[in-house]
Amino acid sequence: MTTGWTRWSECGTAFVNAGFCKVPIGARDELDSVRRAYVSGLRAAMPGGDPGMDDATYLNRFHEFADPAKLNDARVRVIQEQGQSEAVRRAVFRTVAPYLEQLIGPEIAMQRHVNLVIHPPNDTANLLYLHTDAWSGCSPYEVIAWIPLVSVFGTKSMYLCPREKGEKHLEEFKRGLKLANAEELFARVQPDVQPVVADYGEALLFSPTLLHGALENKTDETRTILNVRFKALFSPYGTKALGETFLPVNYLPASELGLAYESKFGVVSG
Ligand SMILES: [Fe+2]
Repeated sequence: MTTGWTRWSECGTAFVNAGFCKVPIGARDELDSVRRAYVSGLRAAMPGGDPGMDDATYLNRFHEFADPAKLNDARVRVIQEQGQSEAVRRAVFRTVAPYLEQLIGPEIAMQRHVNLVIHPPNDTANLLYLHTDAWSGCSPYEVIAWIPLVSVFGTKSMYLCPREKGEKHLEEFKRGLKLANAEELFARVQPDVQPVVADYGEALLFSPTLLHGALENKTDETRTILNVRFKALFSPYGTKALGETFLPVNYLPASELGLAYESKFGVVSG
């Protein structure tokens, strides 16, 4: 498919048509090093788990030895330690960089920290109700990289509503359809949602305009996902500003000079 003078890549065409694309991560060594960092962070924050377990087994069986009362504190600690680490952020960026370039171009801003989601089986305390990220102020120009650290399927994963079907629901809401609560909202959209099935080594890149959420994990393995937002450096930011939520991670020489000039002498406006 083409638009204007540009021919979109395969993942670009899928992203436009469905609002998401699932891609294989070429930099598998980078992904392995990221997973190793998160597992060692979790081992330090949450005692338990046989030291001989490989990383996938440790994460899949995390609920068997993790104390539920301490889970959120451990998750927050690991997000602070690993998710804000320059080395980890850089490695996460490299896992999806070739695809980001196809979706948003070479000049890229990355969310300041990488989020870690951990949902043990049968945990109903931290469900992610149906929503779009744009509803909470995220720029519709973002791309969310959703990177499972273990293979995910069914309720071990999240669900999403592909673009065309989702836009029909969004148009209904815009026309004033009133629903009483999150359960009614989900019941309305549920026939059009699909679970994301992904192996470790794959990533989902999706638009913050897509309806998505996560149900109670009814499998016998823990859901462990990284997610982080990217956008073109100079596309609109919504309520999440550059320098606060986002940091530039890749930019070209003219932008280096422009950004340096405006930081010293003020923003040039017309
Ligand atoms: Fe979301």
